[in-house]
Amino acid sequence: SSHLRTSKPKIVVCRDLGPDVMPLLTKRDDIEPQVVLWAEDRVCERTWLLENIKGAAGIVIVFSELVDAELLDAAGPSLKVVSTMSVGYEHIRVPELAKRNVRIGYTPEVLTDAVADISVMLALMAGRNANETMSIVREGQHLTAPLPHAPVGFLGFGRISHATLARLIPFGVTDCIYSSNPSSSSSSKKERDEALLKQHQPQLKSLRAVDIDTLARESDVLFVLAPGGPSTRHLVNEEFLRKMKKHSVLVNAGRGTVVDSDALAKALRERWIWGAGVDVVEGEPNVGKDHPLVKEPRCNILPHIGSASFETRLAMATLAVDNCLAGIAGQAMPAELDV
Ligand code: DGY
Repeated sequence: SSHLRTSKPKIVVCRDLGPDVMPLLTKRDDIEPQVVLWAEDRVCERTWLLENIKGAAGIVIVFSELVDAELLDAAGPSLKVVSTMSVGYEHIRVPELAKRNVRIGYTPEVLTDAVADISVMLALMAGRNANETMSIVREGQHLTAPLPHAPVGFLGFGRISHATLARLIPFGVTDCIYSSNPSSSSSSKKERDEALLKQHQPQLKSLRAVDIDTLARESDVLFVLAPGGPSTRHLVNEEFLRKMKKHSVLVNAGRGTVVDSDALAKALRERWIWGAGVDVVEGEPNVGKDHPLVKEPRCNILPHIGSASFETRLAMATLAVDNCLAGIAGQAMPAELDV
């Protein structure tokens, strides 16, 4: 409409999306936005955001920006869309947006392979005690065992878990157990599991949904790939970790809040488990040198780079821009969160 063409909707962008993607913000004929960018190479300051979001129509964020009532009130009624460059949305207080009719764009699918890759990398690093033995490994010695063939376990069994399982099968993994969202219907789970077994036959011999207690007791390698938020907070706690096998490995490439950091540090220190590989940590990005997990040699820790390959970040940023512009135009988004 002429209204859209003449108005200049403000879009606040909390991370420089790079020279390939930034120009896409102004590519549409029907929207001529005023782009306000946090151009510094560090997490966007909250005070800057609260100030600049006033009167914005759209905002492009990453997982470090908390979108709550305070921020939405600062934006005011002009805000139509919050577009996050992530598949996870623990940082978005979804009901507050629903209340205000603000739509949410996110980036599923495009990062599945990258995060599955890093999950396997973390499992191997933890299994081989990479952090502690890096110097020995460089000399060509291998002191520890490869990925065991006994059950691999998944806490959360969505797209990224499936892609991780597919990568593990060539390693000789034959048995898989998982615990996942109790709200999805058991008949659709059954169909999905049959399809997965078929896809990976004859290598994959068994795939079972189990309760969380069994998951803790039986997994040799446990992948935590569940979304964050109140329903999964500290599912992996002291009680859980005490049930795990002594030689088992825990990988977390989902959300830091699912694992109690203090309990995991204690489990590593007291050798309840063999090792851990984590890409996400509770309280990030404020994880200092004194964080209990950073101090554990058996914790292989990465700074939330699961999706940080060049091609994946390009795809995420492009999708986030497309979602944002579609939301501003009141059109269907390529990937809208169903709330
Ligand atoms: C996601 O997409 O949720 C990642 O954690 C952020 O890159």
